[in-house]
Amino acid sequence: MQDADKRVTAVVAIDGPAGAGKSTVARRVASCLGLLYLDTGAMYRALALKALSAGLGPDDEAALVQLLANSDIHVAEDPDRQLHVWLDGRDVTDAIRRPAVHAVVAQVASLGGIRAGMVDRQRSLAEEGGVVMDGRDIGTYVLPHAPFKFFLTASLEARVARRHRELAAQGFLVPAATLQRDIVERDRMDSTRAVAPLQQAPDAHVIDTTNLTADQVVQEILAVVRGR
Ligand code: DC
Repeated sequence: MQDADKRVTAVVAIDGPAGAGKSTVARRVASCLGLLYLDTGAMYRALALKALSAGLGPDDEAALVQLLANSDIHVAEDPDRQLHVWLDGRDVTDAIRRPAVHAVVAQVASLGGIRAGMVDRQRSLAEEGGVVMDGRDIGTYVLPHAPFKFFLTASLEARVARRHRELAAQGFLVPAATLQRDIVERDRMDSTRAVAPLQQAPDAHVIDTTNLTADQVVQEILAVVRGR
């Protein structure tokens, strides 16, 4: 990677609803630009997993805030560029994708106290150096001054199909109708929560990924970043 690239691409924010293809694309963009990749959804998932293990309800804000304060959540790539999520020193990469975590994470992520704690952690990570961060509120709230902001969208059908493939690859066969209901409900929760809802930043580049491959989306993002 060129030094000039590094200077202009220090922070890339990628937001969008579930299934728009953010994490695949964000990881590849980070790799092409030699930047750190941070999957902020994985951080919320790790806390949701810990809450389940501790027997805490996803709406018990005071207890969850305390739990977060005592949690070491770390997202990092291994030398093969596989993303790993560590919770208190344990690799929870697969565990955070389980349906039980999926079922409670949106509720955990809707709590103001939890968001405040997570956003602090995310901002400190961004201060350490160049980063590609994906989530729901990165361009609007976590890093509103990011020089590059992208908002990925896709049709509901495409998002359902992607989620179906993702779960099937993990051995979970869930009917498409169930996934569709889940995605619609998740969109509703992510978009209507009081604190930092899923929202397109006015200065974000919007990319509809419905009929694009991940590579095409990556190329479009790189063209914007390098074109500046
Ligand atoms: O992207 P994901 O499905 O792994 O995200 C898990 C949950 O966390 C999802 O309900 C949205 C929420 N989330 C959030 O509220 N803010 C973020 N920056 C990232 C994820």
